[in-house]
Amino acid sequence: MPETIEDILRLKQEKNAVILSHNYQRDEVQDIADFIGDSLELSRTAAGLDCDVIVFCGVHFMAESASILSPDKTVLLPELDAGCPMADMIQVSSPRTVWKTFPGYEVQPTFVFPHEFTLRDIKAKYPGVPVVAYVNTTADVKAESDICCTSANVVKVMESLPDERVICIPDRNLSMWAQKNTKKQVIAWDGFCHVHDRVTKDDILKARKEHPNAVLMAHPECRPEVLDLADHVTSTSGMLRFAKASDAREFIVGTELGLMRRLKKENPDKVFHPLRRDMICPNMKKTTLNSVLKALKEMKNIIKVPEEIRVPAKRALDRMLEIK
Ligand code: 13P
Ligand code: SF4
Repeated sequence: MPETIEDILRLKQEKNAVILSHNYQRDEVQDIADFIGDSLELSRTAAGLDCDVIVFCGVHFMAESASILSPDKTVLLPELDAGCPMADMIQVSSPRTVWKTFPGYEVQPTFVFPHEFTLRDIKAKYPGVPVVAYVNTTADVKAESDICCTSANVVKVMESLPDERVICIPDRNLSMWAQKNTKKQVIAWDGFCHVHDRVTKDDILKARKEHPNAVLMAHPECRPEVLDLADHVTSTSGMLRFAKASDAREFIVGTELGLMRRLKKENPDKVFHPLRRDMICPNMKKTTLNSVLKALKEMKNIIKVPEEIRVPAKRALDRMLEIK
C-alpha cells in the first residue's frame, strides 16, 4: 500500500476521523473515503456520524453544511479554495462586483455577472414567498432561506410547501426543471453550474448518433433543451441507482466525469460513455491524497460557521432532511 494512504488510514484511526467524498472527487480520493455520495446522502451522513473529525473531500459549501449539522465535530476541508462558482453567484446583501469566466468556456453574455440583485432584494420584491435554497449556496444564504434542497429532492421539497409560488436559488437550470415537474410557480435566480451548463443540444444529438443503443442520463443542472432530450434526469447517486436497476447495457452520462468511477466499478458488465469529455469540475479535483494527509496531520483547514448563521442555516437544512 502506498505510504500516503497508510499514513491517512493511521491518522484517521488516531483522530477518530471519517472521510466523506462527493461522487465527483478524484478516483484515488474516492478510494480512501469511508462514504461516497451525492449532496443529499452526504448531508444525511454528516448529520448522523459518530466521530470527532470529518474530512470533507468536496467543495466549500459541503464542508460548511457538515459543520452546520454537526457543530461539535471538527470539519476539515483539505483544499480551502475548493469552492463552487455557482454558490458564489448569489449573495445575501452585497452583490459581487466582478465575475470571472472559466478557461475553455465562454459565459453567455446575458449571464455575465455582476448580478445587480441580492437575495434580500429578491425577497423584498416577492414578500412572503418562501426561498428554496439549493445546497450549493453559502451558509449565510442558507440562513436567509426557508428550506434547502438538492438535485435529488427539489421537487419533493417544493411540493412540501403550502405556497403556490416559490423562489428557487441559485441554479436557473434546476429551477426550470423543477418548474416543469411541479404545479408551483417558480421564481428562478440566474445562476448556473459552468460544468453542466456547457452541454448543448448538439452534444446530445452527437452522442446519440455515436451510441444509438445507449440510455442517456443527465443531471438537472444541465439546460432545459438538454434535459428535454434525456431519457432520465437525476442526481449523481440517482444515476448510480438507475444504471444498476436498468436492463440497458450502455449509457451516456451527462454529468461530471468523476461519477464514471463508481458507475463502472458498480456495473462491470455495462458500458458508460461521457456526454462530453470536458465535464470536469476543477474545484472538485483540487483535493488530492496529499492534501487529505496534510489536513489530517496538521488538523488544518477547519470549517466553522458562526452560531448566528449556523442556527438559521441548520433550520433550513433540517427542514429538508425531515422530508423522506
Ligand atoms: P449531486 O451529487 O447532489 O447530484 O450534486 C451535483 C453537484 O454539482 C454537486 O456540486
Ligand atoms: Fe459547483 Fe458545478 Fe462544481 Fe458542482 S460541479 S461544485 S455545482 S461548479
